[in-house]
Amino acid sequence: MSHLSVQELEKVAEAYEQLLAPALFEQWADRLADAAEIQPGQRVLDVACGTGILARTLASRVGESGAVSGVDINPGMLAVAKRNSPGIEWQEGSAEALPYDDDQFDAVLCQLGLMLFSAPETALREMKRVLKPGGHLALAVFGSFDQLPAYATMASIYERLIDPGVGNALQLPFSMGNKDRLASLFEEAGIQAPVIITHEGTAHFDSVRNMVLADIKGWFPFAGIELGESATEAVVKEASKELASFQTSQGAVEFKLPVHFITATKA
Ligand SMILES: C[S@@+](CC[C@H](N)C(=O)[O-])C[C@H]1O[C@@H](n2cnc3c(N)ncnc32)[C@H](O)[C@@H]1O
Repeated sequence: MSHLSVQELEKVAEAYEQLLAPALFEQWADRLADAAEIQPGQRVLDVACGTGILARTLASRVGESGAVSGVDINPGMLAVAKRNSPGIEWQEGSAEALPYDDDQFDAVLCQLGLMLFSAPETALREMKRVLKPGGHLALAVFGSFDQLPAYATMASIYERLIDPGVGNALQLPFSMGNKDRLASLFEEAGIQAPVIITHEGTAHFDSVRNMVLADIKGWFPFAGIELGESATEAVVKEASKELASFQTSQGAVEFKLPVHFITATKA
């Protein structure tokens, strides 16, 4: 990520907001806010807030008497978040070293970010640290890659046509789907009795092209992968053939999207 300028990061963040957010991310914000039992007047934190999808929902739940902070490591994501919602307190920072004092928040949430952290156990300890006693922790993590045959198809296309590293980047967001391992991770981080519930959502891209572009423009550049026009067109052509069984009669790509919610209360 660091090789990109802030302007370049912002461009990728805009593609994330336009192509990936509606397809995979927006559908979880209300459900995760429910899971954290967000109430008017609360002070809440969105960790790895990205372009602010969850933070915006949280702001509408806590109302004028509450306050929402969003923290993310990526200044491009934060630039888009700020533009969309100037009323929220946006902060650049790492989940592994949260820039807040102890016992500050009534609730700490993290929507589909944990899989990308270099030290997830440290990040969980940090989330617990900044939470008030009795406060609620709620995270969402994608289910396993092996439950997503459409993405398995895409990974094999990237491996064949481009490079195995691209297939690996595609799999990274789905690398924490094992519930037993997730439970152990939370317990190792000192979070007692985490409750893990799997919810079923729907991935929906308007076309095969948009599904391919969502990753090539809205995710891979953050992982240091840039694909040119001819590589992109070759992938779109191959995906149009191989994703046929996931396409609706209107040409959209749709498939089931399992997401685990992990909730806990600070003692
Ligand atoms: C898949 S996006 C999810 C964003 C947002 N929560 C949403 O639901 O749209 C993952 C986010 O995690 C952020 N991120 C990755 N590693 C991070 C870290 N160590 N600390 C803080 N944020 C991080 C990325 O910059 C990105 O915005």
